[in-house]
Amino acid sequence: MKFLSYAYNFTFRQAWRHLTIRGRECDRIALTQYLDQTYAGKSYLYYNGRSALAVALKTLLGAKVQGAKIGVNAYTCYAVVQAVQEVGAQVVYLDIDPKTYNFTAQTLAQTLKKQRLAAVIVQNTLGVVSDITGVEKVAKLAKLKIIEDLAHSVGLRYKDGRPVGTVGDATFFSFGRGKPVDTEHGAALVLRGDYAQAKIYVPTKLTSRQNRRRDRLYPILGWKIRKTYRTIGRPLAWFCKAIGLLRGSVEGKPEPFVTMANWQARLVLEQLQNKPKLTRLPLLVKNRDAVLKALAKHGYYFYEIWWDSAVSPRRLFSKVGYDQTKTPIAYQVGERMLNLPTNLTAREKREVVKIIKEASRGA
Ligand SMILES: Cc1ncc(COP(=O)(O)O)c(C=O)c1O
Repeated sequence: MKFLSYAYNFTFRQAWRHLTIRGRECDRIALTQYLDQTYAGKSYLYYNGRSALAVALKTLLGAKVQGAKIGVNAYTCYAVVQAVQEVGAQVVYLDIDPKTYNFTAQTLAQTLKKQRLAAVIVQNTLGVVSDITGVEKVAKLAKLKIIEDLAHSVGLRYKDGRPVGTVGDATFFSFGRGKPVDTEHGAALVLRGDYAQAKIYVPTKLTSRQNRRRDRLYPILGWKIRKTYRTIGRPLAWFCKAIGLLRGSVEGKPEPFVTMANWQARLVLEQLQNKPKLTRLPLLVKNRDAVLKALAKHGYYFYEIWWDSAVSPRRLFSKVGYDQTKTPIAYQVGERMLNLPTNLTAREKREVVKIIKEASRGA
């Protein structure tokens, strides 16, 4: 059996370490020093990426953030939209190139002919890097702030050779569930250039005791559920969800005063220094529901997709008032996306490809 969910990216050893590791104040200091040096700026640690993005927008735009228009990849995560709206700004969706899942410099330039944007978020969707050279040129001409979102792309380089995260006015990271750096929750913001001197609040509060318990337990619970899925695993997953011990991955809201725990900072630094990699391979399919069912019949549980709609997860899509006629490519990609885990053996890969081909043809 293979999964995309239930902390599939954790071995038992990693899950046990995640449960038991201790951290100290010096771990946060070491992490911020590493980020300051690597990304040439001043860094702050948060509990989730949406908080880091909300603070970035407020810091870069000041009072003008109210009502400001922000360019956002039209294929994105609900948390990004949530952060923009939380600070009183407006999302302007930029349609994507179906091969890179990112908006192009040309789309940005065309949008700027019609409306004025204050900032743009470069997302490097699913680890596919943006055309930063083109985007930067357009942004400079239009005096547009660039925020780099490294949730999927930490450690990569743009085609022009620059490391991701070293171009924008601000760079933020999510170390949330399933990300290349995964401590279940946690995030960072690096303010760069003149903004590195900005006086901003340093969050010190920890999240609730219940969230902290959930963060510690998720990988080990996920491991147990995966290993026993055909016997007690499935009812165990149901029970953990019912009592609130397991939650959907995009739950939560921007909380700029809340930070990650010391032990999370320690794990984040270790993982950052260990060449992080994305744990999913994107693949576009026809008849996705039929494909998912056929895969599950053979023990491949790939239901948790990044991303299963243009603004994901699908259960929140209707909340954002998305007009699919304006950004049709992103909408279509959201309807057809499937992810494969990166730990399939050669035999499993062949089997998965065969199942996908048959199911997408047959339905
Ligand atoms: C590309 C991207 N940016 C930002 C976020 C927000 O991160 P968080 O869930 O830590 O708030 C996510 C979340 O999944 C994401 O996928």
